[in-house]
Amino acid sequence: MARRKFVCGNWKMNMTIDEAKALVEGIKPKVAGLEADVAVAPPFTALHAVAEVLGGSSIRLAAQNCHFETKGAFTGEVAPTMLRDACCSLVILGHSERRTLFKETDETVGKKVGAALDAGLQPILCVGETLEERDGGQTLAVVSRQLKAGLAAAGADRALRMVIAYEPVWAIGTGRTATPEQAQEVHAHLRRDLEAMYGSAISDELRIQYGGSMKPSNAAELLAMPDIDGGLIGGASLKPDDFAAIVTAAAS
Ligand code: PGA
Repeated sequence: MARRKFVCGNWKMNMTIDEAKALVEGIKPKVAGLEADVAVAPPFTALHAVAEVLGGSSIRLAAQNCHFETKGAFTGEVAPTMLRDACCSLVILGHSERRTLFKETDETVGKKVGAALDAGLQPILCVGETLEERDGGQTLAVVSRQLKAGLAAAGADRALRMVIAYEPVWAIGTGRTATPEQAQEVHAHLRRDLEAMYGSAISDELRIQYGGSMKPSNAAELLAMPDIDGGLIGGASLKPDDFAAIVTAAAS
C-alpha cells in the first residue's frame, strides 16, 4: 500500500523566536505543493509564533515533548492540552535524548503517549538502540520493547493516530547514518510487531519514519526502502534548503 511520506523537522533546543519565524518562512515556499506531509517541531517558546507564520499552510506544528498529566504542580512541565492551545497537532515522544539525558523510561513514554492521544495530539513515538545494544545483537529486541511499552496506552482504536520513528541512537547527530538496508531491516521488524498487535489493515497504514543524520545526500536512498515512510530530521532541518531537499526526495 502507498503510504504518503511524512517528514518532520526536530529543531531541538535551537532557535530564538525571531530565528524560528525566519526558518519557517524559508521552509514554507520551498515545500509548498510537494506530495508529502511536512511538520516542524520548534522549541516550546517559539511554538505560537511559528503557528502564526504557518497560518493556513499545510505544514503541521509539533512539540518535542510533553508531560503526562493535564495540569497541576509539575514545575517546568508542559501539558498536552497546552500544546493544543499553542496550535500543535503533533508531539515527539520518547526521543533518545529524552530517554538518555532526562531519564525517561519506557513506562513514562507510554504514559505520555496515552495522555497526548487523550488530548487529541498525534504522537511521534521514537524508538532506537544504542551502539552497545546494536553490537550486542539486541537491536530488534530493544526496539520491540520500546514500541510495545510506548503503545501500551494507545489501544487498537487509536493506533492509526500514531507515527513511529526509528532512530538508531548511534546515528543521531553523529553524521553516521544507518545504511538503507540496516534501517529497512528494523522498519520491517517494527511493522511486523505492529501487525501482530493490531492486524495488517492498521500496520500497513502506519508510518514509520527514519531519523539519524538524514540529509539531502542520503535521503533518497533511505526513503526508497519499502518500509521507510519519511524522516525525523535534526541538524538538516535547521537549513531551509536541506530540509526542503529531503521533503522533495520524500515526495518523488
Ligand atoms: P539528526 O537528529 O538528524 O541531527 O541526526 C535526528 C533526531 O534526533 O531526531
